[in-house]
Amino acid sequence: MTPPKSSDLGGRLTRSGFVRAGVVSAAALSAGGAASLAPSRARAGAPSKGTVTRYPLHIPPATSPASLTLDEAPARLDLGGEQYSNVLAYNGSFPGPSIVASRGDAATIKLTNHLAEETITHWHGMVVDTANDGGPKLAIPPGGTYDYAFTVDQRACLNWYHPHPHMLTGEQVNLGLAGAFIVRDVEETALGLPFGAHEVPLIIRDATLDQTGNLQYKPRTGGFDGQIPLVNGTRSPYLAVDAGLYRFRVLNGANARIFGLALSNGMPFTLIGNDGGFLETQTAVSRIDLAPAERLDLLLSFAGLSVNQSVMLRDLRSGWDLLEFKMIAPGTGGVPTFALPSIDKLANPVFTRTFSFDGMSKINGKLYDMNRIDFQVPFGQTERWRFMTNGNAPHPVHVHGASFQVQSRTGGRGTTYPWEQGWKDTVLLEDNETVDVLIRFDKFRGDYLIHCHKLEHEDMGMMANFQVI
Ligand code: C2O
Ligand code: CU
Repeated sequence: MTPPKSSDLGGRLTRSGFVRAGVVSAAALSAGGAASLAPSRARAGAPSKGTVTRYPLHIPPATSPASLTLDEAPARLDLGGEQYSNVLAYNGSFPGPSIVASRGDAATIKLTNHLAEETITHWHGMVVDTANDGGPKLAIPPGGTYDYAFTVDQRACLNWYHPHPHMLTGEQVNLGLAGAFIVRDVEETALGLPFGAHEVPLIIRDATLDQTGNLQYKPRTGGFDGQIPLVNGTRSPYLAVDAGLYRFRVLNGANARIFGLALSNGMPFTLIGNDGGFLETQTAVSRIDLAPAERLDLLLSFAGLSVNQSVMLRDLRSGWDLLEFKMIAPGTGGVPTFALPSIDKLANPVFTRTFSFDGMSKINGKLYDMNRIDFQVPFGQTERWRFMTNGNAPHPVHVHGASFQVQSRTGGRGTTYPWEQGWKDTVLLEDNETVDVLIRFDKFRGDYLIHCHKLEHEDMGMMANFQVI
């Protein structure tokens, strides 16, 4: 394997994942060796000219977090059209099983590491104590296990889970390790939203397949740039729809790619929620730019399409068709107005902290050091956190341990968007932008992380430890 150039991701990193870097495949990781250089064959992922064969959208199995055993291991799975790929999977499923919990439920989860390197799982968006947060300090070796026990106690929302080991997160997520973690509550139940086959998780990401069709991780300092889109681990997916109302639970599960989501017929999405649950108001939006780790709760009605008519979910940035909605049972219907719950507003910050996302690997001029606490935050204090960058954006900024409320964006795009209202845990920082949020840690004292969720930036060190005291 060619050694990485100094400009490559991991040029100065020493951990096994990055020494191997350049290219890592799921097969290589499972074997703990170098990526195989199999003889060439037509690239399985290349879009063919003309008609694209589409495959049914995969829906991951749902599971409760009670007495859950979660195994991270290599698997060989059909990504569509019976073309099998080596991936890394939670419980043999890519994406991992959708964990569905109600507020108040106990989560008791035993994680086992069947990879050839260390790992740990973080519950992105779940507000839990440090021991259950799955940060890099808690990583377990190959063959190791970790027992999580926490109470699910937050608003209904779509969270997710993924590995978070030091310098290996990008690789493990990219090779397939991620899944939805859905929280339900009585406010949600009262709304009477679509459920069952009409509530559909959509984990959207990009991927690169090697010459034998296996997922392959090729990190770049500017962020992984995959060659094809996958939705729920399905290539070129379609979903057969009827005239009923649909609720889509959308996650950008990509390492680095921002999606500009829109529908091919110009129909708007009805936006009702994001990272931290429901928004206060329902808004029609025809384009949503969604950064890695951001989530959306969208309503859509396809009533009005005739049988076999299709609408495409597209990414306006890459020009990709992400998912085809194919009408099979037309009828009448529409999107009713829902009385969404109100949100307590954070106000009157007593302190402002500034975070400068510097280059591709530093926050406030510092590389991540697992053993350094970079700052302390008083428990229960409302603070203004100001995110800025001096270049190399986009940086999707993510905070563990609490959600925040976006106040303003100055410079760059100069505005905030409907999907940035309410409670967030990840916000997109583009070049020349300053984004102010209000945040208050009022659940747990302990150690948490702030980092760029472009996973290659995170792995290179754009991350800091802080302590809620
Ligand atoms: Cu989704 Cu610290 O991560
Ligand atoms: Cu970044």
